Amino acid sequence: SNITEYESSVTSPVNIAVIKYWGKRNSELILPTNSSLSCTLSQDHLNTKTTIRASPKFNTDRLWLNGVEEKISASTRLTNCINKARELRKQLENALEDQEENTSEKPLSKWKIHIASENNFPTAAGLASSASGYAALVQALANLYELPLNQTELSKIARIGSGSACRSMFGGFVAWRAGVDPNGEDSYAECVAPESHWPDLHALILVVSDAKKGTSSTSGMSTTVKTSELFPMRIEKVVPERMKKMEEAIKNRDFNSFAILTMKDSNQFHSVCLDTYPPIFYMNDISRGIVHLVHAFNEQKDSTTGKPLGIRAAYTFDAGPNAVIYAEKQHIRELVRIFMHFFPPATTQPASTYFPDPFGVLQS
Ligand code: PMV
Repeated sequence: SNITEYESSVTSPVNIAVIKYWGKRNSELILPTNSSLSCTLSQDHLNTKTTIRASPKFNTDRLWLNGVEEKISASTRLTNCINKARELRKQLENALEDQEENTSEKPLSKWKIHIASENNFPTAAGLASSASGYAALVQALANLYELPLNQTELSKIARIGSGSACRSMFGGFVAWRAGVDPNGEDSYAECVAPESHWPDLHALILVVSDAKKGTSSTSGMSTTVKTSELFPMRIEKVVPERMKKMEEAIKNRDFNSFAILTMKDSNQFHSVCLDTYPPIFYMNDISRGIVHLVHAFNEQKDSTTGKPLGIRAAYTFDAGPNAVIYAEKQHIRELVRIFMHFFPPATTQPASTYFPDPFGVLQS
């Protein structure tokens, strides 16, 4: 037969917030109560690879996550993202038809799609898989449908899949502007600085537990917005100030300010979780042990001169017990050694079989 099929394949990275998104003002459009800022991790480490094929032979839209078929209709957000992209494709086809009267040779909007999405990291580890997942989905749809949209416009589509996913549409340092528009036209991600601006900044991921998180971010946020009395102070005062200071710190590659803001914002996010009623606990005893260890590391003094060595590491925790440590490259090896000493991996398999090891620190 001469049936044509179209396929697009993309890889999208994970991002880890340093100013946290927590709270929605509109849960359908996924509009946040506050702006947030994250670092997109390098593409070749933790990522999601998504391939989408459109064919006139397909009868239904189907999706496989890590090889296991999932029901698309079970997820409103997934359906919303696909519908949105398809609607834009339809507009494009209509516009083409009006121009040339040649009825589109690629009526892609009418064809069903098959989606295969895979994470190159253990999904069970409770790492930010929804961010890279929805970013990859939206980018693959945009490429397949040849949508004439820039990354900022695409970030609004990723946002309706998962809020934090909008920030994975860019590499480097990315801000998600909360916006004020009730329709979310000004709630999008933009790049604050490219990855090349601060190549020595690295992220270390410490998998504390691979158990599935107890409270989903969606239900957690909604209860916090409704019940936390500390929350309005964070939204009205703290986050707007921190956004400015964080952008400054990044522009100046000022690790000291970057680290303090990152740690304080993680701590405040987990404080409003505790202030939620009933309270939400994401960090566990190991997480808190890591916090203490990072502070002890940052308080170290030079053994000969007695001079403080300064702040050289920052922790941050999302909606789970796992830690992400930000540090500059020259301190990574020592930090890995310290974490491996105080928190030896419980698994008998070397960590390097799960995670890429760019510095060879896991072997040495
Ligand atoms: O995008 P969601 O619904 O998975 O929310 C993520 C929220 C945090 O990870 C806790 C913070 C953030 O800004 O990424």
